[in-house]
Amino acid sequence: MNKEELIQIAREARENAYCPYSKFMVGAAVLGENGKVYRGCNIENASYGATVCAERTAIFSMVADGCRKFKALAVVGSQKEDGAPCMLCRQVMTEFCADFDVPVYVGGPSEIYEHTIREICPLPFVSFNPSKDYH
Ligand code: THU
Repeated sequence: MNKEELIQIAREARENAYCPYSKFMVGAAVLGENGKVYRGCNIENASYGATVCAERTAIFSMVADGCRKFKALAVVGSQKEDGAPCMLCRQVMTEFCADFDVPVYVGGPSEIYEHTIREICPLPFVSFNPSKDYH
């Protein structure tokens, strides 16, 4: 599973976005440590706060399948860098990333930008997660 394949899966997942309120479609894909890929899309709700982002849908799907660590994450929004993960998703990423050097591919319809968890999640809250070492 290379970067392009993971991004392509995120693009496909984006097609399943349920976003009648924002009309903003997002897709995500995570590569689990077990080698499996889990996809996610944003799922909105009439009670707006019940909305779940694409990244968390993908990560929670991985955890529900029994895998607790991902090695790469791709997220695709609707415009250039619009797929940049929200802060709630970044917090969830710090909990389940294999380490802080895990790549995060962020993009829109054509361009993709490569970051790491360390770059997009400075000073994460990991107090109760002793398996995480930020150094
Ligand atoms: N959204 C995501 O799916 N991921 C993010 O990181 C940012 C926001 C979704 C939530 C909502 O359905 C829509 O984009 C507009 O905020």
